[in-house]
Amino acid sequence: MSLSDALKEGSAAEHDAAEQSPFLTELLAGRVGASGYADYLLRLRVVYAALEEAVRARRHDPAVAAVYDPALERLAAIDADLDHWAPGGGHVVESSAAQAYRDRLAGITWGPALVAHHYTRYLGDLSGGQAMGRILDREFGLGGAGLAFYDFPMRVKPYKDAYRARLDGMGLDAEEVGRAVDEVKVAFGLNQAVFDELAQSLPAYRR
Ligand code: HEM
Repeated sequence: MSLSDALKEGSAAEHDAAEQSPFLTELLAGRVGASGYADYLLRLRVVYAALEEAVRARRHDPAVAAVYDPALERLAAIDADLDHWAPGGGHVVESSAAQAYRDRLAGITWGPALVAHHYTRYLGDLSGGQAMGRILDREFGLGGAGLAFYDFPMRVKPYKDAYRARLDGMGLDAEEVGRAVDEVKVAFGLNQAVFDELAQSLPAYRR
């Protein structure tokens, strides 16, 4: 099986679970206030800082080089959004889920494992993430403000197709594809843990 199909199929159950996580469903139903969304962004900030640092450091690894693209980087967009959602805030958070995610990223030494994390976040942001941005815009009446995170400078559909082709051009053998799938499951699990952590505060976030 191609790497792109293996990553998608290997994370399908985890994807369904993420879509049903209470924090996300409540957020997209318009029932989470600005402090809840800011707390989500603060965790994403930890994750993307670590992801983007790890990817940049390993961009000459052949697997990482295949997907490396500074145009995807989200850290500056997250900071801009935090200025909107939590003005005057310090952009720092105590989060064991975000720290565990960061530690996993920092410890990766095998390029395709890092690609599995790259795929989980950026292809998700370019897929369901695009719908999320539109829903948040509507639910909060934002007129596009505070949503830089969802705003990518490329045409999404052709980019995703080309991304999958670059995954498949990496030339991983079956054993390596299996190891990459193991890591994509880990990546989804780390995202789920962030949502679970946020769900604990849903009563406080209610709007
Ligand atoms: C409410 C939450 C979500 C919705 C509604 C959603 C929806 C979708 C949809 C419709 C697609 C398919 C798009 C396409 O084929 O072009 C997709 C793909 C994807 N999503 Fe999500 N998603 C959600 C949450 C997440 C989360 C939390 C993650 C991971 C952190 C994620 C990661 C991905 C990835 C990696 C893909 C690409 C699959 C592939 O084509 O290989 N999604 N999502």
